[in-house]
Amino acid sequence: MSYSIGFIGGGNMAGAIVKGLVGGNIYSENEIIVSVLRSESLERIKTELGVDATLVNSEVAEKSKIVILAVKPHFIVKVLEEISPVLTEDHLVISIAAGITLDQMKSYTGKAKLFRAMPNTPAAVNAAMTSICSDLPQNDPVAKIVYDIFSAIGRVEFITEAQIHAAIAVHGSSPAYAFMMMEAMGDAGVLLGLPRDQAYRMAAQSLYGAALMMLESGKHPGALKDQVTSPGGTTIVAVASLEEQGFRNAVIDSMRKCADKSKEMSS
Ligand SMILES: NC(=O)c1ccc[n+]([C@@H]2O[C@H](COP(=O)([O-])OP(=O)(O)OC[C@H]3O[C@@H](n4cnc5c(N)ncnc54)[C@H](OP(=O)(O)O)[C@@H]3O)[C@@H](O)[C@H]2O)c1
Repeated sequence: MSYSIGFIGGGNMAGAIVKGLVGGNIYSENEIIVSVLRSESLERIKTELGVDATLVNSEVAEKSKIVILAVKPHFIVKVLEEISPVLTEDHLVISIAAGITLDQMKSYTGKAKLFRAMPNTPAAVNAAMTSICSDLPQNDPVAKIVYDIFSAIGRVEFITEAQIHAAIAVHGSSPAYAFMMMEAMGDAGVLLGLPRDQAYRMAAQSLYGAALMMLESGKHPGALKDQVTSPGGTTIVAVASLEEQGFRNAVIDSMRKCADKSKEMSS
């Protein structure tokens, strides 16, 4: 039996990608195999994802030419040691583990094609932002395969490996900033007299709508902000207050610290 794509690790991220691939008709369930650490996870993978599961990591690499490494970063070397003997130049290995560089993986992957991908948690609702990088050029046919895999769970951008810390700050960690923003907006809604659940729904839908407007129109965020602010109106009062309190500077400075931490962790 052979498969089109295999995952080593069957947790949250692998599960989201498998669901995206199957839901988007990129691969069917019987074309996918997943390996996990604990035997009790085998049944979960089979029932929740409907794909084959194994406890033997090398079986994944033996039976599929595309291998996605979806274990926690501290397991990556152990996993690479296990699959290294069966990897060939026909393999495509994609790691989603944070902080493990292409160079660190190359000694194990040999002539296999190698990519890093950095998805984020909205993968769970098919709205991920994934950055991908490799030593291969963007127009390499393999890059298209990687692009298509991650397009099944959202949007994809090509970056250089040196840009990965910036990408972590901009989209890896940013769901947390957005949740903080919505929590604060909900608190403000409650302060101003709205029921909390309603205030959270309003906050979430507004940020979702604003994000969609920006992506679909391609307009500059400043131009879209200007469209909402009428002279002497309510919105410009809030915008002026946010500026006064250093809103944009707080975001920029926090993201710089996030990227610095990412660099520190991978060195
Ligand atoms: N979650 C995110 O937002 C996010 C975003 C970007 C990148 N990532 C990266 O994605 C990777 C996976 O994250 P996750 O959130 O999906 O983790 P997770 O939910 O904890 O899942 C980890 C999976 O790895 C399996 N595993 C552990 N050791 C293994 C081994 N030696 N061989 C085979 N399988 C093994 C576990 O098996 P059991 O099920 O049997 O325990 C589990 O299925 C991490 O490297 C993380 O940095 C995550």
